[in-house]
Amino acid sequence: MAHESTLVLIKPDGVARGLVGEVVGRIERKGFRIERMELRTLDRATAEQHYAEHTERPFFGELVDFITSGPLVAMRVSGEGAIAGMRTLMGATDPLAAAPGTIRGDLATLIGENIVHGSDGADSATRELGIFFPA
Ligand code: RTP
Ligand code: MG
Repeated sequence: MAHESTLVLIKPDGVARGLVGEVVGRIERKGFRIERMELRTLDRATAEQHYAEHTERPFFGELVDFITSGPLVAMRVSGEGAIAGMRTLMGATDPLAAAPGTIRGDLATLIGENIVHGSDGADSATRELGIFFPA
């Protein structure tokens, strides 16, 4: 495993529900470092760029509506194996299938409101960090 950086978002549902401290605490207790952190509301163009891989999916419009619906927290999270490590901490996409002990497994029920986003690989992490935290 190598030292990695990944983009983590606490989505608008997580911020609205007051779960920022809960999610940040889990990341910190795991031992990953939060190197950048910003509260911001995405415009549609940025949201469409972020979710570009899903353009053809039937739920793309809802995805963009949701992610732009209120403030989110964007973070650059770093550490040994941070990309896969964050995905493990988050749990499966569908919160009802996500294991207890994970963020989604413990805190959510709806696939469309699953609290967190984490880059799904090295290429995604580089691309997504470039959108949120350009050098
Ligand atoms: P994310 O990108 O948010 O970290 O989630 P993920 O990798 O676990 O899931 P992904 O396949 O990238 O899907 C992005 C988001 O789209 C919503 N989704 N809805 N209705 C559906 O069947 C469906 N499938 C995915 C979820 O909110 C998911 O996080
Ligand atoms: Mg994804």
